[in-house]
Amino acid sequence: MALPLEGIKIIDFTGVQAGPACTQLLAWFGADVLKVERPGVGDITRRQLRDVPNLDALYFTMLNSNKKSLTLDTKTPEGKAIMEQLIREADVLVENFAPGAMDRMGFTWERLQELNPRLIFGSIKGFSEGHPYADLKVYENVAQCAGGAASTTGFWDGPPTVSAAALGDSNTGMHLAIGILTAVIARQKTGRGQKVSVSMQDAVLNLCRVKLRDQERLEHVGYLEEYPQYPNGTFTDTVPRGGNAGGGGQPGWILKCKGWQEDPNAYIYFTIQEQNWARTCEAVGKPQWAQDPDYATPRARQPRLFDIFAEVEKWLADKTKFEAVEVLRKFGVPCAPVLSMKEIAYDPALRASGSIVEVDEELRGKYLTVGSPIKFSDFKPVITGAPLLGEHTEEVLGRMGYSAEQIAKLRANKVV
Ligand code: COA
Repeated sequence: MALPLEGIKIIDFTGVQAGPACTQLLAWFGADVLKVERPGVGDITRRQLRDVPNLDALYFTMLNSNKKSLTLDTKTPEGKAIMEQLIREADVLVENFAPGAMDRMGFTWERLQELNPRLIFGSIKGFSEGHPYADLKVYENVAQCAGGAASTTGFWDGPPTVSAAALGDSNTGMHLAIGILTAVIARQKTGRGQKVSVSMQDAVLNLCRVKLRDQERLEHVGYLEEYPQYPNGTFTDTVPRGGNAGGGGQPGWILKCKGWQEDPNAYIYFTIQEQNWARTCEAVGKPQWAQDPDYATPRARQPRLFDIFAEVEKWLADKTKFEAVEVLRKFGVPCAPVLSMKEIAYDPALRASGSIVEVDEELRGKYLTVGSPIKFSDFKPVITGAPLLGEHTEEVLGRMGYSAEQIAKLRANKVV
């Protein structure tokens, strides 16, 4: 069966994580993705944090599967001519260079439109156009700090904290993928391409909308009742860090289970779901709480939340995180074990669903990577290996009409 994005030609002029994550997703769904990389250098992640000498690092292979690689020095006249031909034939060009780099190379948005009015141009920067910081180079944690995630993550008595999840990088790539597919649909109606820009700051902020909600609530009422600071602590004029509190109307916390003294991940996330309170009480051996006026309503529970969590931790003391979840799930309690990366890597359910896949590459052998988190009823994305630097240079240039001699000359001149 043809994959949905088959026939869509994407020039992947991206590096590190944000751009590659976007184009990788589109490649999984069938797009023909050609990574254009500097000769002899390539995407910097090929050699960052290597675990096997002289092999492309996992950082690269896990973000560039299902793509092809062409080496091309787009700053040389010959390289520019090749790039221009590629652009004329492409549907989409994606880049995430430092601000101004595309313009310095001569590929302004105006020039791209001249070359191919149907081209969709996807661009990632740290900050959006016109922002006072628009000239900054940006990596993951910079974006998390600028997008509101860091100031609201961690504990109130500690510093702002970044998340391990790639809210700035891969998340921005996912936003751009949505934008590109939207532009593809728009083009079916108008015949024209367009520029699609996503800033990392905005993509982080989009995931922090509940914190902006809280800022507005704080300004209206002066407190946030679901935060641990309520009712006994103090609030300032900005959203505080709430530790592991639940972000919505359902209070929750990370609680210790059997073995926490030795195992840093022997914890569960435990949620008090308002509509399930009576069954939750039953589950943790406190059925009397359901009728007790001190515990029966959310308002009554609020000042006692940490006493409740302490009691639940006593109940958890002789149960592993998995045993605890086995009990709690039967009572409809929203909960999960805190899973370590090792547990995730070897989880048979994640392997069965294709969320973790094993790829077998010629040079590296077998390695794990993250498969498509989006599941379709008509097809299952197949994750293949990542290309070696310039693996498809001959193939691509040959298809463009370059002879073997011409390619050899380009190679000798370090254009490819
Ligand atoms: N041929 C010739 N030159 C090339 C090339 C090619 N195939 N590919 C890249 N280059 C050049 C660029 O044109 C640029 O040259 P210039 O500085 O003379 O204009 C140079 O290589 C370096 O570009 P870039 O990789 O963007 O700069 P950097 O390594 O200093 O910065 C980032 C890296 C990620 C910080 C920066 O690209 C950035 O801020 N990007 C936007 C936000 C982003 O995506 N961040 C990363 C999230 S994972």
